[in-house]
Amino acid sequence: MNTDFWRGKRCWLVGASSGIGAACARALADAGARVAISARDQAALDALLAELPQGTAEASSAHLAVAVDVRSDTAVASAWERVHGVWGGVDLLLYLAGNYLPARSWDLDVGRAQDILDINYLGALRAVSCVLPGFLAAGAGHIALTSSVAGLRGLPKSLYYGPSKAALTHLAEILRLDLESRGVRIQVIHPGFVATPLTAQNDFAMPHLLQPEEAAQLLLRGLERKAFEVHFPKAFTRRFHWLRCLPYSWYFPLIRRATGL
Ligand SMILES: NC(=O)c1ccc[n+]([C@@H]2O[C@H](COP(=O)([O-])OP(=O)(O)OC[C@H]3O[C@@H](n4cnc5c(N)ncnc54)[C@H](OP(=O)(O)O)[C@@H]3O)[C@@H](O)[C@H]2O)c1
Repeated sequence: MNTDFWRGKRCWLVGASSGIGAACARALADAGARVAISARDQAALDALLAELPQGTAEASSAHLAVAVDVRSDTAVASAWERVHGVWGGVDLLLYLAGNYLPARSWDLDVGRAQDILDINYLGALRAVSCVLPGFLAAGAGHIALTSSVAGLRGLPKSLYYGPSKAALTHLAEILRLDLESRGVRIQVIHPGFVATPLTAQNDFAMPHLLQPEEAAQLLLRGLERKAFEVHFPKAFTRRFHWLRCLPYSWYFPLIRRATGL
């Protein structure tokens, strides 16, 4: 990681109590950034906060742990008020909050679909709406949304998760078109498989599985670069770029054969 890029940057990580988000918080703090970590689990946030190096900023404001449930407009607004109140703004919003429940079409439950959409997509909109006015006023800022390769095309067992991530990727594309010329950097992140609580429920072998620390390094190095899309591990995610271009008449039989579903 490029510590010159990160030193002193104020980074709000939403979805950082475990997995990739927690690993990003550790790596960012090690690189000299200031991190505000948010998620629902206050105890996990406090434990993570306690292990982060404090850097040169005053201990009371170097890093923050601010609990939030991203399904609530008011909770996200008050978490932002807290971060803004201490730091006066942020340089980066990194949205990682996500939920996943493997399901096939015959399992359809609209309530579950709504809940996952609320966390994976609407929660991102809520967080973006908090930081955007300040970014636009300053003509600067950086928003990175963690989607998934599962958002690139329809996949089996992805009944709830896939559409929520497709919406998030689509949102990032639109934000990029609107905001790039106004000085606000937008990036979308498409990770492959990472060993976290989210994927622990998968009952199949996950190819090219990364550890959260490896994923965090690849993610953050991607944020240092200009490319809109950050994807990793490339040996796996490049296949999805190729699949994305296939006509349906090739795509459906190929996915059925590859997954056996
Ligand atoms: N692991 C993978 O293979 C993989 C692949 C592609 C994309 N991703 C994406 O990467 C992101 C991080 O996932 P992960 O794998 O690191 O899983 P994880 O360890 O389960 O992390 C998910 C994070 O989201 C938070 N979260 C969930 N519901 C929330 C809510 N209602 N309000 C606030 N925070 C909430 C969780 O914290 P609390 O429970 O404390 O709220 C946790 O901090 C997710 O967006 C996921 O979709 C992961």
